[in-house]
Amino acid sequence: MASICHLAGSWKNVRKIFEANSQTYYCIPAATYNRYKADTFNILYGGINVKSVQIGENIYWVGAIDWDIRDFHGYSTNRGTTYNAFLIVDEKITLIDTVKTTMKEEFYSRLSDIVELEKIDYIVVNHVEMDHSGTLPEIVEKIKPEKIICSKMGQKALLDHFHQPDWPYEIAVPGEDISIGKRTLSFLETRMLHWPDSMFTYIKEDKILFSSDAFGQHLASSERFDDEIDQTLLLEELTKYYANILTLFSPKVQKLIESITKMNLEINMIAPDHGILFRSRPEFAIECYDKWSKYVSNGTALVIYDTMWKSTEKMAKHIVQGLVDEGIPYKLRNLQHYHHSDVMSEVLDASAVLLGCSTLNNGLVPRMAGFLMYLSGLRPTNKIGAAFGSFGWSGEAVKLLNQAMEEMKFDIIHPGLRFKYIPKESDLEQCVELGREVGRKIKEQQ
Ligand code: FEO
Repeated sequence: MASICHLAGSWKNVRKIFEANSQTYYCIPAATYNRYKADTFNILYGGINVKSVQIGENIYWVGAIDWDIRDFHGYSTNRGTTYNAFLIVDEKITLIDTVKTTMKEEFYSRLSDIVELEKIDYIVVNHVEMDHSGTLPEIVEKIKPEKIICSKMGQKALLDHFHQPDWPYEIAVPGEDISIGKRTLSFLETRMLHWPDSMFTYIKEDKILFSSDAFGQHLASSERFDDEIDQTLLLEELTKYYANILTLFSPKVQKLIESITKMNLEINMIAPDHGILFRSRPEFAIECYDKWSKYVSNGTALVIYDTMWKSTEKMAKHIVQGLVDEGIPYKLRNLQHYHHSDVMSEVLDASAVLLGCSTLNNGLVPRMAGFLMYLSGLRPTNKIGAAFGSFGWSGEAVKLLNQAMEEMKFDIIHPGLRFKYIPKESDLEQCVELGREVGRKIKEQQ
């Protein structure tokens, strides 16, 4: 983003607001903004960056960047997120998706950078979840669109959210294209990826796939494209998003990839509703989804535990010793220090998951109980599993961990280790041996 610092001195009433990410942000009076517009710089109006980003010929990103969000219903969004929306300027000016209602000013500013809002003809709703449809009622009221294009389930979801039976719904049907002038919109039904209403929109002429939540990442950045951003960071956030949102729907992701392949769909760009757009390597995003949805594992072990008086931790560290003996890369995750959504990213392609927990009140320590609830909901599979934990008198934790892993169809290779209060040397040697056993099993599978 270009800085406007050098321009500020010559203007009256330009007020510095704050500095962040090597940028200086100013509040600029409306008259000054209207005079200079955004031709020579990226301007901030009322603290909002109004510059849209061109992503194709007459196609623009008009979304909003949420630098501050840190929790997305239980998913730790440590790097913020974006709500991507897109504007296609054709004979029928078409908006694809909107943004979370709290970000609407930024969205309107970017839209106004391209057209007067009232000139928008069609709105495509790829997904009804409120981070993409929150601003819909207000913008529908403002622009009175000719069509609101959505899936059949999308119409139901819109009715259940906003209770507006008189909106001009048009059901997008796969195989029945909608012309917007020089361009044609096609639709792919992507039910349960990740909501019943979800769909993709594809522009045949530009070969852009607007993929809704799929291929998204919770990543706030000034960059918009995959060739502009650190690749490790991008992969980390792409992985975390898949792991925490889509793991449960992996069989459907497989079917979707098969149908995209069968359709010979040429894709020059994947434009998801969160994060970075893939213009240089759209195939990379698809390859990642293909791999993850096949539950391909990476030969590593993940030891996840919670501990009360460090006995379970001691067991975890001795299990790790056994993994090291077998040359297996591992990660040790004490849930007191790692967020469940970060751990979930690592579960995604780990070969083995070892769960450890002390027994508390005849059950699990709450953090492990919460983690298991989250993990079971996302239902990862194709994992080697084993449980361990220390206890005082009743010792149910290992049994409960095993039950949860059975339900997820993990390959449980050991009945589990449970030791009273503080493990003895001979107990710890059994932990080392459990680590070795898991290590050998991982190597057999590779
Ligand atoms: Fe980004 Fe399912 O909403």
